[in-house]
Amino acid sequence: MKATRSLYVSVVILLLVFSTLAVKPAQQHLDVEARVNALLAKMTLEEKLGQLQQLDGEGNGTFRPEHLELARKGLLGSTLNVRGAKQVNQLQHVAVDESRLKIPILFGFDVIHGYRTIFPIPLAQASSWDPAAAERASSIAAKETYATGLRWTFAPMVDIARDPRWGRITEGAGEDPYLGSAFARAQVNGFQGPNYNTANRILACAKHYVGYGAAEGGRDYNTTEISENTLRSVYLPPFKAAVDAGVGTFMSAFNDLNGVPTSANHFTLTTILRDEWKFEGFVVSDYTAVKELINHGYAANDADAAQKSLSAGVDMEMVSRTFNQYGPTLLKEGRLSQKEIDEAVRRILRIKFRLGLFDHPFADETLEQNAFLNADSRAAAREIAAKSMVLLKNDNNTLPLNKNVSSIAVIGPLADDNRAPLGWWSGDGKEADTITPLQGLKNKVSPQTKINYAKGCEVTGDSRAAFTEAVEAANNSEVAVVFVGEAKEMVGEAASRSTLNLPGVQMDLVKAIHATGKPTVVVLVNGRPPTIGWIVDNVPAILESWMGGTESGNAIADILFGDVNPGGKLPVTFPRDVGQVPIYYNHMNTGRPPDPASRYNSKYQDLPSTPQFPFGFGLSYTRFEISNVQLSADRIPVNGSVKVTLDVKNVGHRAGDEVAQLYIRDVAASVTRPVKELKGFQRVSLQPGETKRVEFTLDPDRLSIWNSEMKFVVEPGEFKVMVGTSSEQLIEKTLTVERR
Ligand code: BGC
Repeated sequence: MKATRSLYVSVVILLLVFSTLAVKPAQQHLDVEARVNALLAKMTLEEKLGQLQQLDGEGNGTFRPEHLELARKGLLGSTLNVRGAKQVNQLQHVAVDESRLKIPILFGFDVIHGYRTIFPIPLAQASSWDPAAAERASSIAAKETYATGLRWTFAPMVDIARDPRWGRITEGAGEDPYLGSAFARAQVNGFQGPNYNTANRILACAKHYVGYGAAEGGRDYNTTEISENTLRSVYLPPFKAAVDAGVGTFMSAFNDLNGVPTSANHFTLTTILRDEWKFEGFVVSDYTAVKELINHGYAANDADAAQKSLSAGVDMEMVSRTFNQYGPTLLKEGRLSQKEIDEAVRRILRIKFRLGLFDHPFADETLEQNAFLNADSRAAAREIAAKSMVLLKNDNNTLPLNKNVSSIAVIGPLADDNRAPLGWWSGDGKEADTITPLQGLKNKVSPQTKINYAKGCEVTGDSRAAFTEAVEAANNSEVAVVFVGEAKEMVGEAASRSTLNLPGVQMDLVKAIHATGKPTVVVLVNGRPPTIGWIVDNVPAILESWMGGTESGNAIADILFGDVNPGGKLPVTFPRDVGQVPIYYNHMNTGRPPDPASRYNSKYQDLPSTPQFPFGFGLSYTRFEISNVQLSADRIPVNGSVKVTLDVKNVGHRAGDEVAQLYIRDVAASVTRPVKELKGFQRVSLQPGETKRVEFTLDPDRLSIWNSEMKFVVEPGEFKVMVGTSSEQLIEKTLTVERR
């Protein structure tokens, strides 16, 4: 009897255990909704508006006395920049222990490509064409961030950027919506993991919603005019990908979009984001973007700004305080409804609950001791940096360098610079932790190799005084490697440039070194596409190293000496001259496409119609061949799919990576379509002589377009299907989609 009973008890316990284990996210979400509603019912208007407020900390990551006061009253929903487990806990204790409703504060920070271990800038990560690499970088960043008590990053930045003058092109994945979507997904997954309510994972934020990268003239914060078709086809997809990947938050942007600033744009924030995409998280405005509605000429005053932004769909106000200050009056006057305010609060509380903030509001203060710059993290940073670099030219096998070289001249203002590699938004990355190229090369070469270092000039300025020393260094060496590009401050927010030339006298330095007749390699350290025509025409080897993060110098050395074979590809078109901008591969055709034989067509008189380097371009120390391109069918119905297969063969003598790329062109449609559009890619590693079969699927999702009625459909007709190793090196097949 006793035995039966204990068996019965065990079965019940087991069942209970299983039933809790089996609590599906949907059930968890229902529980969250119940908790949110219960809490909301207890909140005063003041407390509700408090949840909508995010305030900035001090420059050094600390909070202000005012934050404590607000937290005590339950009036501070979130902070940005306050960080460090101890700081966070101090402020959080006041919110949780002393406020009436004990609602925890959400601590956010810009962790874009690393917290302390800095990974390559996002544009570089996209050059890897390996989303798994970006996912890994983001997950390591999340772990370091989590240790500091932060639970939220303002990343990924998923703005499509077609204008290299815009400094923030550095923060995103470049010009293509398909590649951009893949990297958006990867970064969201890396930061948030399968469930962001877990140790070492943090909440992500897709920004800047939307169209910010289309700033007129590439001037930051500038006006954007984007047709709905272009918005849906080009600028929205990476945001949609972030939603599909489960991103918890969005950030509205600074730009005016077709006459309605994006931080008050009901169409994008509500019609698309909430109604179409069913996004359940919350939207934070960009920094003071709500108040800036006044400057835009869209709001007459602060109250008006609050009303327009909140009712359009912004939930949390970053730094400016109009929601808080004018919420009560707007409610009284009937300009905002209780429902609108409650909905914003509900979205914020929902995410705080989903994040587990109520259950675990405090940081473990012991984590920070061992969290940063671990050997594993550094190794990952080095590997990902090397994966992100793009070999632009390599005549006569100038690279890789021979490890037995007797002497190398290491030249240029960026050869021993430990700031630029960190790029814009370097979290709490430290210059002292950065391996500069000079250090990386020293770490690599044998003791017999003599390194002759000379700076030559500064990044900016016009002094050529140190050229002599640099020329001498080159003359005294077997080979010269020149590091030129941009300083850290020249890229990122409010860092637009009207020229893409190498700043200062750097080009002249390259010319002077080249004139010595020594084999010369140029390594670019920069955050946006540069115009370097003379170098392309004259210097035999060029490596685009980007701003490669903490381990950048080691990664550069790995590539220069052939320990790593470069396999990155450009995620953005490199123009010949700034006058060509915007120049992007997925443009529409014209009635008179470029034709060297004719005068009347779409080109400049004084420049070739082609870019300097096309989208998807990048070389290797080995060679690859694409062959055996096959479609599983030549004709498919509108709801059908087709498999595209090809062989990639390494026909050289070194192991290496190639990126197989798939493009399509919808030949005639109800709206004009780009001359080509990326629809698949895969980076494959191949031993010498090895062949791999790569397979892509073109399904209705990939074949669909936003048609003349703004519906996402496959239109019957002919498609060109192109595969190859860059957007300009393609083998073409024809596919017919039938109305069946
Ligand atoms: C930037 C955002 C950033 C925010 C908070 C703004 O100026 O545009 O990208 O997340 O500041 O630092």
